Amino acid sequence: MTHPETGPYIRCEDLFKIYKVADLEVVALRGLDLKVERGEVIAIVGASGSGKSTLLNILAGYDTPSAGRVAVGDKDLLRMTGKEVELYRREEVGFIWQQTSRNMFPYLSAVENVALPMMLTNTPSGNRQKRAEELMDMVGLGHRMGHTPEKLSGGEQQRVAIAIALANSPPLLLADEPTGELDDKTAAEILDLFGTINVEMGTTILIVTHDPDIAYKVGRVVMIQDGKMATEVRRRVTFQRASGVLDVDQPLEEFILVDGSGRVQIPRDVLDKLNIGERARLRIEDGKVTIVPDDYGSGR
Ligand SMILES: Nc1ncnc2c1ncn2[C@@H]1O[C@H](COP(=O)(O)OP(=O)(O)OP(=O)(O)O)[C@@H](O)[C@H]1O
Ligand SMILES: [Mg+2]
Repeated sequence: MTHPETGPYIRCEDLFKIYKVADLEVVALRGLDLKVERGEVIAIVGASGSGKSTLLNILAGYDTPSAGRVAVGDKDLLRMTGKEVELYRREEVGFIWQQTSRNMFPYLSAVENVALPMMLTNTPSGNRQKRAEELMDMVGLGHRMGHTPEKLSGGEQQRVAIAIALANSPPLLLADEPTGELDDKTAAEILDLFGTINVEMGTTILIVTHDPDIAYKVGRVVMIQDGKMATEVRRRVTFQRASGVLDVDQPLEEFILVDGSGRVQIPRDVLDKLNIGERARLRIEDGKVTIVPDDYGSGR
């Protein structure tokens, strides 16, 4: 089912994902909210097990949430039929996995791997070949077309993976730790390539990463903590494309995020430092909200 697109391109509201393993329930997403504008590049960071891959898999249509709402463009991901999900995965999203080998068929050449997704969308064979070659050029591998994956370096394999993900010109690219297996220099080049794609093709891009310098490369970094968005680092602009050189002079600022119910997450180290336990006092003074320990002002 579709509905007219209003507001941000990606809209996740109060998403929950509960995995059941034998008798145990694992809560991977716990009321997560996220909005992403069309053409935005964002990075998602967070500790291992915080729910990053779960979120990406839901956005890719590989998995469904246990509760909440999730829409991408004019598509409500929870109200699509099996066939619609299949089309969505094929045409709307490109996905890049961390494991370089998972992105490619080992017995096909790089350019054949890039042409493959276009067979599923019935692109005529002449156009497939031409576009595959163009994409190989775009990712800087025009000279490696005929190589099979084993003859490519890790960085080159991820470049091919990006070309494969872009084959059907999806408006959305999702990358789950695409640089996790690469050295720092190669990782930086791959992140720059995402910036180029964003600028040249207008693709909306979500990258899960542990790269400490990511904030300097994308418009916005959101931190997921225990299955919920906690903080955000961004420049003081509404949004910015990855390589939008125009705004790099703007300072990076960190924000805490307020969810749809008005909840905020206070970092554990701040709570510990201020000795805030289960309960705190909220004061509103001079246009400021102050949160202080329970015993503050007791006896008054
Ligand atoms: N298929 C599954 N079955 C059961 N539990 C799962 C499944 N997938 C994820 N989980 C659990 O859900 C939580 C979130 O996992 P997720 O893979 O989304 O984390 P992550 O942030 O991607 O971590 P990492 O940085 O290690 O990749 C974890 O506790 C994980 O063990
Ligand atoms: Mg993961």
